[in-house]
Amino acid sequence: LVIEPAELAALLPAHLARQRWYGAKHRRIVGAEVNAVEVIESGWPGLLRVVAEVESVLPGPGEGNGTDLPHAQSEDEPASACYQLVLGLRPAEEMSAVDVGEDDIVGLLSTDQGQAFCFDGLTDSELSLGLLRHIAPSLEVGTVRAVIAEQSNSSLVYDERAILKIFRRVAGANPDVEVTTALARVGFSHVPEPLAVWRSGGDDLGLVQRYLRGAVEGWALANTSLRDLYDRGGTPESSGGDLGPEATRLGKLTADLHLALAEAFGREVGESKVWADAIVRRISGVTHPDLDSGAAATIARRLAELPNVGASIRVHGDYHLGQVLRTDEGWFVLDFEGEPATPMGERRERSSPLRDVAGMFRSFQYAAWVASAEHGGGVSDLAAAWESHVRDAFLSAYLAKLEGTGLLPEDPGSIRAILSAFEIDKAVYEVAYEQAHRPDWVVVPLEGVRRLINENER
Ligand SMILES: Nc1ncnc2c1ncn2[C@@H]1O[C@H](COP(=O)(O)OP(=O)(O)O)[C@@H](O)[C@H]1O
Ligand SMILES: [Mg+2]
Repeated sequence: LVIEPAELAALLPAHLARQRWYGAKHRRIVGAEVNAVEVIESGWPGLLRVVAEVESVLPGPGEGNGTDLPHAQSEDEPASACYQLVLGLRPAEEMSAVDVGEDDIVGLLSTDQGQAFCFDGLTDSELSLGLLRHIAPSLEVGTVRAVIAEQSNSSLVYDERAILKIFRRVAGANPDVEVTTALARVGFSHVPEPLAVWRSGGDDLGLVQRYLRGAVEGWALANTSLRDLYDRGGTPESSGGDLGPEATRLGKLTADLHLALAEAFGREVGESKVWADAIVRRISGVTHPDLDSGAAATIARRLAELPNVGASIRVHGDYHLGQVLRTDEGWFVLDFEGEPATPMGERRERSSPLRDVAGMFRSFQYAAWVASAEHGGGVSDLAAAWESHVRDAFLSAYLAKLEGTGLLPEDPGSIRAILSAFEIDKAVYEVAYEQAHRPDWVVVPLEGVRRLINENER
């Protein structure tokens, strides 16, 4: 099965712009190039793996796409990024019989076997089953369904027992593959067991893991708890959906995760100055009229004055309530790819384990805010009480488990200062991320920054 790459490239910008996983929606695609085509199934229906390089620019003033970025320069350098696609092909005359949504269509292509109709191959069961046979021939499965979620990658669930995550950004070794397999190797049993890795050359293309059937995302659990509290009032611990006990278990599991990461990747002495400088640099790269960068940087700089900041280890890097699943066997941790908006090269950098705790704390604020908006507002006292209850439950279990391990400094003042610095870091990252992706949400991290500044000035 041979296609004409230039012909496909011309169809891709329109297709990509409609994909949930396409990460640069605030930029305008100016062109695409097909860098590689791998034929997985030749003949009909055909299956191709395609790597496309996408060129985009920030829209100039007046050319707006609805998102008004305060930091957007009009004289933007075009940026290019590589995306991986899995495409299906069927004879053009069968087009009307193919059951695909409008967003999943790529278009008509000429091939050496005649005109073909090209579409997102992951929407087709026959092709999706063929893909798993190609990646993991020993796994015998009969059914497949796509995961519909706000994801930066794409996932398929097979027989409700295996999940294939297809990475959309491909660049050599993938941190999710690297960390998940390393953790399994040191016997950490709370990452879903890796079953197969999809690789080509030096690139990790996807990961097959055990699917945790019936698992509940931390985000959903938090929202249930918050809805209950907002509806009934009272204290977080007396409400029916008290998250306290689960937060305690999650805190303990997070400590176990950090011990396992230290075992798998080693530990170094934490360098407060390096961490502080990195945070200050990040703050200086983000502007928003309601962001007090000076005060935020002051909190970060305080980190540099601490005599002992504990260890520097490989961390999760993008730890939040959407990355943890609660099952009958306890909490499981997913998705070690790091922050989507951070360059791949920086995502492997070691840091304080408290960076992940800060990420989870930021997520608690997001959950409280989203549930409050859903409730119609007017519950800020309850939100604050819930957050502080859940944070305390998480942190006391986390710290108790790490006592005497050397991962953290001994004195509570230092722990608080490190945590605040990383919370500021994460919140400022979120300000930039929300400006680009979800402008309506930028108020959440801005409020987080404001609160941290107030707390630290007191
Ligand atoms: N092993 C698994 N078992 C059950 N659900 C899973 C599993 N892996 C992923 N999921 C579900 O898919 C969602 C996205 O997975 P994730 O690995 O975080 O992908 P992404 O990189 O796109 O964020 C998770 O939040 C979870 O709900
Ligand atoms: Mg994720």
